[in-house]
Amino acid sequence: MKDTLLKIKTEAIAALAEDGADIEALRIKYLGKKGELTAVLRGMGKLSAEERPVIGQLANDIRAEIEAEIEKQSAAMKSAALDARLKAEKLDVTIPGTKVPVGKPHPLAMVQRQLEEIFLGMGYSIAEGPEVEYDYYNFQALNIPPDHPARDTQDTFYITENILLRSQTSPVQARVMEKQQPPIKIISPGRVYRSDAVDATHSPLFHQCEGLVVDKGITMGDLKGTLEMFAQTMFGADTRIRFRPHHFPFTEPSAEVDVSCFACGGKGCRLCKGEGWIEILGAGMVHPNVLRMCGIDPEVYSGFAFGLGIERIVMLKYHIDDMRHLYENDVRFLHQF
Ligand code: PHE
Repeated sequence: MKDTLLKIKTEAIAALAEDGADIEALRIKYLGKKGELTAVLRGMGKLSAEERPVIGQLANDIRAEIEAEIEKQSAAMKSAALDARLKAEKLDVTIPGTKVPVGKPHPLAMVQRQLEEIFLGMGYSIAEGPEVEYDYYNFQALNIPPDHPARDTQDTFYITENILLRSQTSPVQARVMEKQQPPIKIISPGRVYRSDAVDATHSPLFHQCEGLVVDKGITMGDLKGTLEMFAQTMFGADTRIRFRPHHFPFTEPSAEVDVSCFACGGKGCRLCKGEGWIEILGAGMVHPNVLRMCGIDPEVYSGFAFGLGIERIVMLKYHIDDMRHLYENDVRFLHQF
């Protein structure tokens, strides 16, 4: 019996010392009412009178030892658990915070918004048109019949013979005039497409902003005043503008418009290639044929229109020398603006 008791003790202590021991289960196994030690004690009746107190004493000692071991192991486990928790939850308030990356508008979007602000401020509304457009609106309604040479400079992508990706925002002019009698005062920013190879100044997809004003008594003076106001807000109060005669089939007279170089003030520098002037847009008085085709009487109304390239303005404003940067979506580049 003594051997059994000693064996229980060795086993119990070894089991308790094991990593991850289930202490409560072991307590029940060895010391519980149906436990191994209790079972031994139950058999004590069979012992002789001399043996009984000796074995009894031994059994009590062993019980006490196992209890003490249980106590010790559960205290050790508790403190290990606490240590682990403290370690896991450690908070160093002196560590600098983690920066959350914050997005920002793309330079093209920034300039587009600025354009919208400027013209909304002058009482314009924003009109939209489809990027997949009818040949009719992109060309014919703009006084460019099927075999007109002006089509060569605006070669685009065709879906069918009559449906294409718009090569300019000008078709929005025709769409607006068809639906609405004057007074009309809109801008229309958006994507346009041309069958151009990619290089530093060309892309098959780019952005334009169209402007259209039609009312009684609109003159070229209104066009000039409007564009001057726009240029000075966009490029600085000292900016001057210059009209050069040009040809567009849907405006007559037509002009290309330059702004005085905002880098050198007109003296000539690298940005303006020594010219002192930088071309920024095309414009003119809406052609009577266009008004007529859109259901507006050119004897009663007149109007002006202009169209500018948004990429060009972005590149000039931010001194970007390669248009491809605007489409590559490299955040290291985009975060500079
Ligand atoms: N749509 C012309 C272009 O893309 C620009 C323009 C617009 C010219 C409106 C005159 C009037 O070249």
